[in-house]
Amino acid sequence: MPDLAWVNGEVSNLLETKVSFLDHGYFFGYGVYEAFKVYAGKPFAMEDHLDRLERSMKEIRITPDFTRDELTKNIYDLVRRSELQDAMVYLQVTRGVGPRSHSPLKNPKPTLGMFVSYLPPIPEEIREKGIKAVILKDDRWAHPFIKTLNLLPNVLAKQIAEENGAYEAILVRDNGSISEASSSNVFAVFGDTIVTPPLDGKILSGITRLVVLRILEKSNLKFKEDYFTDEQLRNADEVFITNTGAEVLAVTSLDGKPVGKGIPGPKTKQLYQLFMQEVPSYL
Ligand code: PDD
Repeated sequence: MPDLAWVNGEVSNLLETKVSFLDHGYFFGYGVYEAFKVYAGKPFAMEDHLDRLERSMKEIRITPDFTRDELTKNIYDLVRRSELQDAMVYLQVTRGVGPRSHSPLKNPKPTLGMFVSYLPPIPEEIREKGIKAVILKDDRWAHPFIKTLNLLPNVLAKQIAEENGAYEAILVRDNGSISEASSSNVFAVFGDTIVTPPLDGKILSGITRLVVLRILEKSNLKFKEDYFTDEQLRNADEVFITNTGAEVLAVTSLDGKPVGKGIPGPKTKQLYQLFMQEVPSYL
């Protein structure tokens, strides 16, 4: 019998099971999962797994639209239908389906899916010999320069921004230095100098940022790639973000307090104009 899957109440052959491209689990890694073993046709430590699943969902603000009893029943039913004795149940809950945006989905309906697969036992030979391992630096997930789909922290940051009536979340490191924003790069103007954090592998190398820096190189405006702290940012004369959608966009309020005069500053306006003038040469 082929592996069985269950997605939002529909049972199908795992190889033919489909979920929407618009699922935020697919776009952003916005989801949580559990995997539990089945011994003699019965799931192992179900209550502990469901406790952890509920904790995980709460942490990333997924509100289930199913009860624990319903879920338990559906897991047992699927395991029974699979007729497998030694198996693994994989279960995941994602934010749900909707337009691709870092902004939280309106009325999200979580996608709940699971499947049961035969799980072969670890071969006796390996049990006897043991395994080899390597030691690696623990840098999960410390590669923000890669434009990966691993965007859960970004979408959660955007969600908190929106809950506070803000458009974007600007991120600060433990050492106080500003890195970037949830889906954009950050620039600040201090006096006559425009500053943006350097590409140190801990920020995304934005294309808009790159184009803005090229424009700055050609202009007579003073600029540098350097670090600045959140404290310095709060006292900047101007702040703006860059990304593909927003181009060059002024930030006029930080944590409810005005940046500079609280209106888009002259350097930001000038750069936006220069950017728009430059667009045709990239087409
Ligand atoms: N995001 N930093 C992060 C974390 C981003 O996700 C983005 C872009 C940028 C700016 O990159 P660019 O200038 O190449 O757009 C910086 C896009 C807009 C998105 O995820 O929709």
